[in-house]
Amino acid sequence: MSSDTTDDIYDPAFVKDVFDRCSDQYIAFSWVCSFGFTERWRRQCVEALPELAEGATGYDLMAGTGEVWPHLLRRRPDLATITAVDISSGMHRRALERLHRHRAHRISFIEDDVLASQLPDESADFVVSTFGLKTFDRDRQTLLARLVARVLKPGGSFAMIEASDPKGWLLRPLYLFHLKTVLPLVERFLLNGAQDFSRIGVYSTNFGDAGHIAESLAAEGLEVRFRKHFFGCATSVSGRKPLT
Ligand SMILES: C[S@@+](CC[C@H](N)C(=O)[O-])C[C@H]1O[C@@H](n2cnc3c(N)ncnc32)[C@H](O)[C@@H]1O
Repeated sequence: MSSDTTDDIYDPAFVKDVFDRCSDQYIAFSWVCSFGFTERWRRQCVEALPELAEGATGYDLMAGTGEVWPHLLRRRPDLATITAVDISSGMHRRALERLHRHRAHRISFIEDDVLASQLPDESADFVVSTFGLKTFDRDRQTLLARLVARVLKPGGSFAMIEASDPKGWLLRPLYLFHLKTVLPLVERFLLNGAQDFSRIGVYSTNFGDAGHIAESLAAEGLEVRFRKHFFGCATSVSGRKPLT
């Protein structure tokens, strides 16, 4: 049964429905809506990992169509495995069919709500997440920070990036017009979507920036660096788990 009737747009079942429905067109939408910036931000997210050692294994949380994997493998061609965690099987199926068949042996997939998943303690050399934070409200971001701290090995690295509200930027009204008005029109006339991409715009404007998750990660004892990208249109957190 569709959970589209729920009022809670952060309910994991609701989020899953949204992404299952838009998985076919997500890649095109992601590119169009950001004028290609998303690719650059994914690369910068991977570069922000303090360390990515030979033979490393780790998690791509809210992996979607696996857009960040080429960046990880470019930085570390000898990466051992990436475990993709995503609640939407549609996004992952699409990822393997269209983009990543040739690297499928290095990717494993867990289809689950990341907060409900039983990822083992200290099982990852790295954790990355690109554009997967916005569908988490503040309480869930706190839980996500706890999970990242728990699954990282001592010395392990993390980096996460999300589109953000560029508060204080002169061109912010233009950016919000793009997000709230232009994108729904693109969806309606070009992508034939079912209001799902407009919802992604709502998540983005509600998200604010990565400040809350930065504080939550620091509260979990991780070393954290917060950065703004392109006047704050995206923000990232990166760092590592101390050795002791
Ligand atoms: C905007 S997409 C980002 C995909 C990809 N990482 C990228 O760079 O394009 C967000 C992804 O987060 C997934 N997601 C949202 N909430 C989730 C949750 N609670 N657990 C696991 N995956 C979730 C969605 O299914 C979707 O694939």
